Amino acid sequence: MKKQIFLLIFFANVLACQSTSNKTMTTEETPKTAQIEGIIAENGMVVSAHPLASEVGVAILKKGGNAFDASVATFFALAVVYPRAGNIGGGGFAVYRTAEGETATLDFREKAPALAHRDMFLDKKKQPITKLSLIGHLASGVPGAVDGMVELHKKKGSMAWADLVQPAIDLAQNGFELTQAEADVLNRFQNEFKEANLHTLPLVRANKWKKGEKIAYPDLGKTLERIRDKGRAGFYEGETADLIVKEMKRGKGIISHEDLKNYHSVWREALKGTYKDYTIISMPPPSSGGIALLQLLKGLEKYPISDWGFQNPKSIHLLSELERRAYADRSTYLGDPDFVKIPMDTLLNAEKIAEKNATISLEKATPSAKVKKEKKVESIESVETTHFSITDKSGNAVSLTTTINGYFGSKVMVERAGFFLNNEMDDFSVKSGVANQFGLTGGEANAIAPQKRMLSSMTPTIIEKNGKLFMVLGTPGGSTIITSVFQTFLNVAEYKMTLQQAVDTLRFHHQWMPDAINYEPNRFNAEQIRNLEKMGHKLVVQPSWGRVDAIMRREDGKYEGAGDKRGDDKAIGY
Ligand code: DON
Repeated sequence: MKKQIFLLIFFANVLACQSTSNKTMTTEETPKTAQIEGIIAENGMVVSAHPLASEVGVAILKKGGNAFDASVATFFALAVVYPRAGNIGGGGFAVYRTAEGETATLDFREKAPALAHRDMFLDKKKQPITKLSLIGHLASGVPGAVDGMVELHKKKGSMAWADLVQPAIDLAQNGFELTQAEADVLNRFQNEFKEANLHTLPLVRANKWKKGEKIAYPDLGKTLERIRDKGRAGFYEGETADLIVKEMKRGKGIISHEDLKNYHSVWREALKGTYKDYTIISMPPPSSGGIALLQLLKGLEKYPISDWGFQNPKSIHLLSELERRAYADRSTYLGDPDFVKIPMDTLLNAEKIAEKNATISLEKATPSAKVKKEKKVESIESVETTHFSITDKSGNAVSLTTTINGYFGSKVMVERAGFFLNNEMDDFSVKSGVANQFGLTGGEANAIAPQKRMLSSMTPTIIEKNGKLFMVLGTPGGSTIITSVFQTFLNVAEYKMTLQQAVDTLRFHHQWMPDAINYEPNRFNAEQIRNLEKMGHKLVVQPSWGRVDAIMRREDGKYEGAGDKRGDDKAIGY
């Protein structure tokens, strides 16, 4: 019973970020029959969670900006039109591949403030204090978003910085029309905005927001103007920094001027691995995504899953078994590489991966406790992230995922600065073996320490086929991010779906603990469920999750862009 409650809470949380606007998907028993394509364009493509943000990105491409310029502009536009996840108060990761094949990743993940300490979310009896890592001022890590955009622009941008921030300022100041999904989400969170602090105007009001209504964010517009005019200093110093620190003092938060000044994002070498003819380019720690994705694909390579078929229980079983094992490693070994030694060579060594997967039976599920012993998984309570993929005329590609973690982060809006702060501190392991809002557990490697980055599941990824750009993808969804990226790629590479079908196809997910296959409604039919249960799997249906926004370079050289039908996500090309 306790386990069931835990499962429920865990997924309610994973899904909290998406469920309001999710459209119910129907099953695709034979995905190959209907060749639904995404948007096809020759010169460039932007796929993001909001049509207005995609429009801003494409306008930059049309003006002659490259994929990096368009990324910066799309990023800031999302901070305005998609405040549940788009942000300047959070952080994220970007993976890029230039037209010449140069690759790198940018880590602009938040950091724990200098005054943070290991037990900061525990009471005197060393028990987690409910929601302290999730709601309110202590829940926030030092934001990395603005520094990240400045770094990306400095290294690879071609247009003037101010021209990339301006479209977001225009949206914030002139206002823009709400989509149904955005109106719904603002209505849904009214009570939480009010409870969290009083300064969340203009979001808070008595009557319901409606589709098509205009909303403006004048304070955010002013903050963006400072960022436009002063770059990094427009956020980490001066008036914006003062407002953040003042907000912290108001709510017993601990982010200081020093924390802000000391925040710097980090360029990290991309993690690379192969799967058949493909090279996977993904995010290294402090993301767990790249390592897990490479482990999953390496483990899968020897099995003829396309011959078995998309709906064959044997394929579903195998993927679940691989996922179970990859997530067990995640919880043990991964954390911030600037703080902990991560055994990358072992984790990514093909023989070691084969050794670990040798216990997989094709007939029977392995109980998760047998894969690795875990202390009792307790649930403390309980999401929002957004991904965009961009390609340009020359063939540069950017895959970027950003988050404030929960919907509207910590629910604290910085007074007079007009933006939400993240609640990323919950991505640390607040206590060894205690699950975070996604049901993910961790230990020493992901314990809180001053200036440390919390472990993430965000998996912005770029894939080459035979050495050429093939796919750009990523998604929100907390712990489900990794399996969504994994399955979307396989839908194209193994099951020969179009990109749009691959994105829209219903998903399933196993994350070791809780020991169950979670699936989107209609993903499996009764017979498949019976077969999987016979093998020893527990199956739990959950409302839809993930918003994969992806681009594929087709053989004719054109781009296919696919925005996830689960949300307002939109591909716009030219
Ligand atoms: O970094 C992470 O893994 C989480 N903070 C991501 C949160 C997320 O994807 C929420 N969206 N649904």
